[in-house]
Amino acid sequence: MNTVAPGQNETQPELNVERITELSEDDLAALCEAADAAIIEGGGFGWVNPPGRQALERYFRGVLLVPERELFIARLNGTPVGSAQLVRPPRNNEAQAFAATLMHSFIAPYARGHGLARLLTQRVEEGARALGYFALNLDVRETQEAAIRLYKSLGYVHWGTHPVYARVRSQTLSGYFFYKLLKSAPENTPSGKAAGTKDKAP
Ligand SMILES: CC(C)(COP(=O)(O)OP(=O)(O)OC[C@H]1O[C@@H](n2cnc3c(N)ncnc32)[C@H](O)[C@@H]1OP(=O)(O)O)[C@@H](O)C(=O)NCCC(=O)NCCS
Repeated sequence: MNTVAPGQNETQPELNVERITELSEDDLAALCEAADAAIIEGGGFGWVNPPGRQALERYFRGVLLVPERELFIARLNGTPVGSAQLVRPPRNNEAQAFAATLMHSFIAPYARGHGLARLLTQRVEEGARALGYFALNLDVRETQEAAIRLYKSLGYVHWGTHPVYARVRSQTLSGYFFYKLLKSAPENTPSGKAAGTKDKAP
C-alpha cells in the first residue's frame, strides 16, 4: 500500500492508493457509494444514470475477475472513495502490446480536492511501467474539465478529438484522446525490426 501524509497531523487527511485483487464487503459498499455519488454528480464512468447498488456490486466484482484489468482503489482516511482501472491490451494485439489504457477513473465528489486523483493516476502509471508498458492511453468527455486539467498537468498529450464521442442527457459530446509515454520507445532498426529482436530460424 502506498501512503501519503501518514496522519502525523490530525487535520491532514490520509491518502492512499492500492491495487487490489479482492474487496471486503465494507470496502465494496464504500466503493459503490462513491461510484453512485460520482455518477449522480455527472462525472465519467460511462454510466449516465446510477444503475443501482446491486449492479454496481456485480460490476466491481466482475472487474476483479477480468484478467486484462487491474483495479486501483483510492482511500481517504482508510475508506474507498474512488478507483481507476489499468487495462492491458488483448493478447492478439501484438502490434500494440506496448500500450495499456487507463479507464474509469473517478473520485467521489465528497473526497475531491485532496490530491487523490493525482496519486491514483501516478500509481496506475507506476503499475503500467512495472508491467513493461511504455505508453498509457486514455480518453475523456470534453465536459470533464477537472480530469482534462489533471491529465495535462501530468504530461498527457491531447492528440485527437472524437466529435461524436458520447451522448449525455440528449447532448452529443466530443471526446479528447490522450497518451503519455511512460518510458522511451525502443529505437527502430534499419531493417524495421525493433532493436534486440532476432530473425526466426527458417
Ligand atoms: C477528475 C477527478 C478524478 C479529480 O479528482 P480529485 O481527487 O479532486 O483531483 P485532485 O485533487 O487529485 O486534483 C488534481 C488536479 O486535477 C485538476 N482539478 C481537480 N479538480 C479540479 C477542478 N474542480 N477544476 C479544475 N481542475 C481540477 C487540477 O489540475 C488538480 O491539480 P491542482 O490541485 O494542482 O490544481 C474528479 O473530479 C472526478 O472524479 N471527476 C469525474 C470523473 C472523471 O472526470 N474522471 C476522469 C475521466 S474517466
